[in-house]
Amino acid sequence: MALYTEKVMEHFRRPRNVGCIDNADGVGEVGNAKCGDIMKIYIRVDNDIIADVKFETFGCGSAIASSSMATEMIKGKPLKDALSLTNKAVTEALDGLPAHKLHCSVLAEEAIRAAVKDYYDKHGIAYDHSKFASCTDCAGCCG
Ligand code: FES
Repeated sequence: MALYTEKVMEHFRRPRNVGCIDNADGVGEVGNAKCGDIMKIYIRVDNDIIADVKFETFGCGSAIASSSMATEMIKGKPLKDALSLTNKAVTEALDGLPAHKLHCSVLAEEAIRAAVKDYYDKHGIAYDHSKFASCTDCAGCCG
């Protein structure tokens, strides 16, 4: 059996939403301490809807495929949907990732959350800070 699914390979070879958004409403950048890979997500928000989203990922193929899929999954959706996107949902949409690559999809979830938080911060929008608690279990998600 192939290591990567067709969907992973397709999003890796032809990633959607690559690039940056000038004067983005929110920008989220996260990195994986172990592999050193970095993911940056830019969002443009219109009436609580993610009107546009782009990413720049300096990382492995799984991280690029996860970025591509995750941005497709939140584009045109309300901010609350973006905040509830999990790496599990991204992985499932890609028809799976090898176990040792699951942490790559965590970057997408975290970068999107960071971009939404940045949007709230920049625009003085109140939010529940406990929902943006920083990671305390690196061994569990960044392996
Ligand atoms: Fe670093 Fe995939 S190996 S994000």
